[in-house]
Amino acid sequence: MANVTFSAPTLEKDVTVYAVAGDNKTLLGVAKQHAIAIPCQCQDGECGSCLVKVTILDDKSPSGIHLTEKEKLTLSVNGKLTRDQLANAETNDMPPPYRLACQYIVRNEDILVEFSGEPGVE
Ligand code: FES
Repeated sequence: MANVTFSAPTLEKDVTVYAVAGDNKTLLGVAKQHAIAIPCQCQDGECGSCLVKVTILDDKSPSGIHLTEKEKLTLSVNGKLTRDQLANAETNDMPPPYRLACQYIVRNEDILVEFSGEPGVE
């Protein structure tokens, strides 16, 4: 069980939902399930429109670290993933701040998800 809090200027107020970690749902899937409109176009990690900022709120070691190859490429091309951040994710298990909601699998940890409501803008 994870608490996922969505925060955006397009929402009246922050919304916290419970996500079942074992469901292997993407962040975009969890948002859709709760009628939270994160901009998205391709839903396949290629367009970058579902860019979000993810902050882990738990004190324990982060879990949602894995980036798909598409996520790495799209974030890098859009200037949202530096080489250092990628290396940190791959070697030190330190998740980068910006993610693609359609690629991020929700794990058993509490997170804050911030987005602007505009495609590709966190
Ligand atoms: Fe296109 Fe997520 S919707 S990258």
